[in-house]
Amino acid sequence: MGEGMRRVKVTVVGAGNVGGSIAQRLAEKNWYDIVLVDIVEGMPQGKALDLVEAGPVCAYDSAVTGANSYEITKDSDLVIITSGIPRRPGMSRDELLETNTNIVSSVVRETAKRSPDAILIIVSNPLDVMTHVASRVSGFPRNRVIGMAGVLDSARFRSFIAEALEVSVENIHAMVLGGHGDSMVPLIRYTTVAGRPINEWLSPDILDALIKRTREGGAEIVNLLKTGSAFYAPAASVVEMVEAITKDQKKILPCAVLCEGEYGFHDLVLGVPVKLGANGAEAIMEYALTTEERTALEDSAQAVRELCEEVNQMMKKTA
Ligand code: NAI
Ligand code: 2OP
Repeated sequence: MGEGMRRVKVTVVGAGNVGGSIAQRLAEKNWYDIVLVDIVEGMPQGKALDLVEAGPVCAYDSAVTGANSYEITKDSDLVIITSGIPRRPGMSRDELLETNTNIVSSVVRETAKRSPDAILIIVSNPLDVMTHVASRVSGFPRNRVIGMAGVLDSARFRSFIAEALEVSVENIHAMVLGGHGDSMVPLIRYTTVAGRPINEWLSPDILDALIKRTREGGAEIVNLLKTGSAFYAPAASVVEMVEAITKDQKKILPCAVLCEGEYGFHDLVLGVPVKLGANGAEAIMEYALTTEERTALEDSAQAVRELCEEVNQMMKKTA
């Protein structure tokens, strides 16, 4: 980094499992200054200090600061929102709706006014709906309000395919679109292994089983952990998005963004292929879909739309 060059300032709200892991991964890049915010007294400060103390061992100079308030988040380049309550065993993502709507609304209000030019990355569940909430509350243009789910869901699908075929994960390309829920849409026709379509590698039965496991990927981890939900792969997925943005990579990744006509959806946040660069979600890539794929995407969109309508009612009442 040249003299006088400012590091990228990233605020991570919610210093729990996902937020803490994001902070660690970003600190290790030695390119970001990180602010961790949480409501639990001392916890973000403690995690921040611990990460600073890892710097000499891991060879990074990243500044990591913790706080229970928002003053130090001022002028962040990116704000990552992981605050909320996670899913517990037997709990659906949608049960998180009301609590997380309130949490995400207040956090977006606090951060957006201090960093009016920031790009927001939303992680809190239910993901597509919380991204809708962040979009409404911030009033930011749609290229600056981006939900993380598709990268994670696609990573799960890719890891299962790699395991089944005994090939490197690096050979697998996959796109999981739609909402981050049971009706997510893994696009088989666009899934390839070393450039060759997946249906030439795996039988329909095996492929169906891998798709089912992908759709239930979040629940599989919840059932194992018992006290919380996944965080390593979610944090890694957020960091891939952060890097694509801050390095202006123009990387095409599945992300939840506001569709305004794309794929025939209007005023709806949904997971679609997005080009990520310095301006955030710079473009939505429209893939040709078969009737079957389109129906699956519409079903998934409908599930998100219903929750967004519930949330709109909730927000009206509290406005
Ligand atoms: P966690 O419970 O470990 O951390 C959440 C943190 O948010 C806690 O430390 C809590 O104190 C904090 N928090 C709560 N209210 C707050 C407020 N008003 N202001 C600031 N901080 C507040 O949970 P975890 O595992 O980190 O998950 C976080 C969220 O991310 C959950 O909603 C979870 O469902 C979601 N998630 C979404 C994924 C995705 O693919 N989009 C993947 C993994 C998790
Ligand atoms: C996941 O998919 C909990 O949504 C989170 O792991």
